[in-house]
Amino acid sequence: MDKLVIEGGVPLTGSIDVSGSKNAALPILFAAILVDGTADLGNVPRLRDIQTTLRLLEMLGCDCQREADRVLVTPGQLKAEAPYDLVRTMRASVLCLGPLLARIGQARVALPGGCAIGARPVDQHLKALEQMGARFELEEGYILGRCRQLKGAHITFDMPTVGGTENLLMASVLAEGETVLENVAREPEVVDLANFLVACGAQIEGQGTSCIRIRGVSSLQGAAYAVMPDRIEAGTFLVAAGITGGELLLRQCPFSDLEAVILKLQGMGMSITTTAEGVLARCAGPLRGTDVTTRPHPGFPTDMQAQIMALMCLAEGSSVVEESIFENRFMHVLELMRMGAQIRVSGHTAMVRGVRRLTGAPVMASDLRASASLVLAGLAARGVTEVRRIYHLDRGYEQIEHKLNAVGARIRREQE
Ligand code: UD1
Repeated sequence: MDKLVIEGGVPLTGSIDVSGSKNAALPILFAAILVDGTADLGNVPRLRDIQTTLRLLEMLGCDCQREADRVLVTPGQLKAEAPYDLVRTMRASVLCLGPLLARIGQARVALPGGCAIGARPVDQHLKALEQMGARFELEEGYILGRCRQLKGAHITFDMPTVGGTENLLMASVLAEGETVLENVAREPEVVDLANFLVACGAQIEGQGTSCIRIRGVSSLQGAAYAVMPDRIEAGTFLVAAGITGGELLLRQCPFSDLEAVILKLQGMGMSITTTAEGVLARCAGPLRGTDVTTRPHPGFPTDMQAQIMALMCLAEGSSVVEESIFENRFMHVLELMRMGAQIRVSGHTAMVRGVRRLTGAPVMASDLRASASLVLAGLAARGVTEVRRIYHLDRGYEQIEHKLNAVGARIRREQE
């Protein structure tokens, strides 16, 4: 297993190219199951979750070709089974359910189960697909779904779920008649998926609002499409500029998708501006504490909660973080405390008291964004930080140590 060894205390300066979005690329890759012909996708990040998805698509009967950040997916004779060995390593595998039901009327997908950041059920996906005519059974840990032709329906989600909205979008584009999805997720990645489907010939309106209307069509053709940039990777680098007292120019940074994050970072004392070349972030003075509550988009993203908490650890005064999306998403707290942070957790709330400095320590990554927060803390800490179990990080950050070393960080990857 690899670990990252970080010598902290260097202000990062220079420019970084933001990669394509993992959370947009995953559903778009699964949506390729729906097309006749080839989906020609650009800006696909080179990440472990993407490799896992390509392996799964191949097992489902798609031909996948990859060259640098371009991926070609051509569905062939489709098969229904997504095996547990792959699904357990990546929850997003459940996104093949909608496309498989739409295309071949059956799907046998391992139930993803819990994960490090909470229970994360898929009840909303199943309930909504049932309204379109699908029937489900649980069989030896697998969800077995069957349907004839999926039929349009009026569906209201109990809560805005990103994956649920994406699964239903993919199920409804080839369904008979009109589908109305209400109380849907408004995340930019949902919009990117809808835009890809529209490029393939789907009829979708309202993406980015809380109500999406889909008029089913008889087939979709392949299309060329570039995946949007990764707002969470970009947000992580914005924090890197602030926490090290540096100055970073982020190219291909999706500024408007990051509004809630940028407003908080500016409120903490960072200067973040757009220029002709990208987004320029620097620490304009001492950092001040702030309060953050995670919310569905356009609120503050849960996927940036751990990273901004690392910054709060070094900001003057107190900060409060309330996690309202996932239970059990404070696993970075104890590790940050090993580096000298002062944090108290009570239920879904963490209270952070800023300290003057963090000190390097061996720490353990527990999930993807928790790992990013430990890397950020390590970049700012005095001394050496070893972040262990970084396979989580490799699921979601493309060449993170190369990108950070190119702007002055001192990070090396070693085998444990
Ligand atoms: C996606 C993102 C993840 C992000 C999350 C919230 C991908 C691959 N992952 O995850 O990085 O943190 O959105 O922005 O895009 N829920 C149910 N029943 C369901 C579905 C969801 O109760 O059937 C609950 C979840 O437990 C959670 C909330 O709804 O409390 C939001 O989850 P959801 O938006 O579905 O997250 P994911 O799509 O899994």
